Amino acid sequence: MADWDPAQYLKFADHRARPAIDLLGRIALTGPGEIVDLGCGAGNITRLVAQRFPERGIVGIDSSPEMLAKARAALPGGRFIEGDIARFAPAAPPALIFSNAALHWLDDHPALFPALLGRLARGGVLAVQMPRNHGAPSHTAMVEASRLPRFRDKLAAVVRESPVAEPRVYYGVLAPHAAEVEIWETEYLHVLEGERPVVEWTKGTALRPLLAALDDDEQAEFLDEYGRRVAAAYPKAADGKTPFPFRRLFIVARAR
Ligand SMILES: C[S@@+](CC[C@H](N)C(=O)[O-])C[C@H]1O[C@@H](n2cnc3c(N)ncnc32)[C@H](O)[C@@H]1O
Repeated sequence: MADWDPAQYLKFADHRARPAIDLLGRIALTGPGEIVDLGCGAGNITRLVAQRFPERGIVGIDSSPEMLAKARAALPGGRFIEGDIARFAPAAPPALIFSNAALHWLDDHPALFPALLGRLARGGVLAVQMPRNHGAPSHTAMVEASRLPRFRDKLAAVVRESPVAEPRVYYGVLAPHAAEVEIWETEYLHVLEGERPVVEWTKGTALRPLLAALDDDEQAEFLDEYGRRVAAAYPKAADGKTPFPFRRLFIVARAR
């Protein structure tokens, strides 16, 4: 898969930081241990986590060398390691496993979430935010366009239709192993500027693997198909800006 493009992702850095800040507001750390940021990306959110808990050491883990290069510059005092979240096995149990907008790239959440909780120190916290906008036009338009006959063969294997489950699924797999579980959803109304802002938004994230599977001409055709659909679904307001509703799922679970 093509590497992440930090510049494209960070075009909407302020909008994308808001849920991470909301998640941080619900975390209280008690016991010892360091902090791990899984799927730390460009490190701008890792820096916010480090500022919130300045007395703790922090390590960011990500599979993207491009993102890690940015992260090392964003937080020179942090440790950043290239690795796969699926193989995460810390040497010492952390006080906090934090993950903002990353775990929806991994499969089998009913196994993954209890496994992460099990890695924590006693009383440690698993704090996760994931987009759950997959039933909205920003994502259904992607699936629709991917099924057009000219793209179907190349995209069937890479499109992720619903990588995040219902909130109750996460409660069901975490509660038997946790001291506390808090789960909520928030739908943000991001007000975006520019000509095709929803296309620009998803190009930095969910569209990446699809575009990477297409050649240049196919990419342009696909973006036209997708762009027409999202332009109709998210019309501009009278001031020329585009209100873009986006739902996110938050999970804060404390280990026993
Ligand atoms: C949408 S970005 C979020 C980055 C950062 N947490 C933030 O909030 O800005 C998702 C990140 O997860 C990383 N990622 C996705 N799957 C991964 C995996 N299996 N192991 C490690 N990192 C992964 C990507 O490389 C990317 O940097």
